[in-house]
Order: sequence, then C-alpha cells, then structure tokens
Amino acid sequence: MDQAIGVIDSGVGGLTVAYEIMRQLPNEKIIYVGDTFRCPYGPRPKHEVIQFTKEMVSFLLTKNIKMIVVACNTATAFALDELKKELNIPVIGVIQPGARAAIKVTKNNKIGIIGTEGTINSKAYLKALLQINSELDVIALACPLLVPMVEKGIISGEQAKKVVEDTLFPLKLSNRIDTLVLGCTHYPLLEETIQEVMGKTVQIISSSEETARETSVILEVNQLLYKNNREPNHSFYTTGDMDVFKKIYLSIFKKSLCEMNKVKFEKIVL
Ligand code: DGL
Repeated sequence: MDQAIGVIDSGVGGLTVAYEIMRQLPNEKIIYVGDTFRCPYGPRPKHEVIQFTKEMVSFLLTKNIKMIVVACNTATAFALDELKKELNIPVIGVIQPGARAAIKVTKNNKIGIIGTEGTINSKAYLKALLQINSELDVIALACPLLVPMVEKGIISGEQAKKVVEDTLFPLKLSNRIDTLVLGCTHYPLLEETIQEVMGKTVQIISSSEETARETSVILEVNQLLYKNNREPNHSFYTTGDMDVFKKIYLSIFKKSLCEMNKVKFEKIVL
C-alpha cells in the first residue's frame, strides 16, 4: 500500500524509532511529527498528554496514513489504549516491544527501567514486564533532566556525562541489574554515555528495533506493506526549533546536508 506510516513523539526522541523503521522497511514512506514546542511531555498530567497526542494523530490523519507508531513512551503509557479504541487503522506503542526486548536479553532477571516521570509513575513498563514474567525483579527510575538536555542538542561531552552520572547514581549503587531499558525514545541519543556510566556488565535496551519489527509484522498481517522497490520521500514535521531538530536528525541519520534536502522538513502549529 502506497500510504505512509505515521510516527509521533513529543520531540526528537521518536527519530530513533523512525530511523530503525526506515532501516528495516526501506520501501516504506514515513511521516513524522515531533511536538518539540510542547516537549517535555514527561512532567505533564495524563489528560494533557492524551490531548497533545490526539492533536498529532489528527494532523497525521489528514496525510493519508495506513498505520501509527506512537514513538514516545509517555504518550504510549497515557494515550495508546484510547487511540486503539478510536482509530480504524493499526496503532502500536513502544512499551510492549521494549519490555519484550529486555526479557530476551536478561540473564539474572533483574531489569532496570529509566523513563520520564509520566512513564515511570504510570507503571506501564512494570505491568508489561510482569505480565510476561512475574518473577522479574524490576527497578524503575524517573530521569526528568535527560529529555530537556537532549532537546537542547546536548547528547555527548562532559556536561552530558555529568548529568547522566548523577541521574543514574541510584541504579549504579544498587548494582543488581544486568539489563537497562531505555524507556524513553530520547535516551538512545545518550546511549554511549549511559553505557559508559553503567559499565559493560549492563546490557542497554532500546525499543526501536523491536518496535520496527512489530511495525513490519502488523503491516504484513494487515496486507498493508508496500511491496515494490522505491526510494520513498519522507516528511518530518516539528512544532519547535527547526535548527535543533535538523541537528539531531543529522546525528541519528548520519546524512550529509545535500542528502537531507531530499527529505521534507516543515514547521507546523498544532
Ligand atoms: N520521548 C518521550 C518518551 O519516550 C518523551 C519525552 C518527554 O516529552 O518528556 O517518553
């Protein structure tokens, strides 16, 4: 099917998921919306996250899409169930895929989860993990400083390391987990620093790969895959600062500026 896959996030974090979908499904067209202007969603009340998420979805529904990937853990925790009930196209989030990926990897059944206050307080990861294996020992930690830092484009260097070190100190101190789930799609942008701080004995899990795999399965099952070869034109919309958005896009997609010109970037108001 020629229609696009819609991908949404509160900002730039979902680009890590969009990248993986594009890698695994190179013929599929992506339309991405990042609500950078109103990011972070993490500290916002549930009703507001639901409202903002629905605004992104309404925008996408004007663009002829065949499926929606909620590439934001906070929006998944708060809005996914409602969206599933209301939409007549497939919609998936990132929490189930993230939980599955962690369970595949852990050897000692002790899993850490880091995410926004919204995601951690919702206990959505805890539920998803324990539903699969009720014997797991799960330690969850909210990390409110990480998203604002990433949205400013600070993803490496001394400042990033200091903030990550201070934030992850309680996890490091407990010295129990062998697997850490990046329960926020912004965190893969800090993955190297997080790995350095946690040490080699901890496996870092980002839900992007598993989410892209689930996207592929859902499209296949619903006979919505685009089966021919093509170089699709992707579109990226942000409600916020275009320069920072493009800078982070570049750091994930590792494209040159001239290649970037083939991708449509547009600022929107929701
Ligand atoms: N990237 C988002 C997530 O996965 C949200 C970050 C935020 O807006 O606080 O939770």
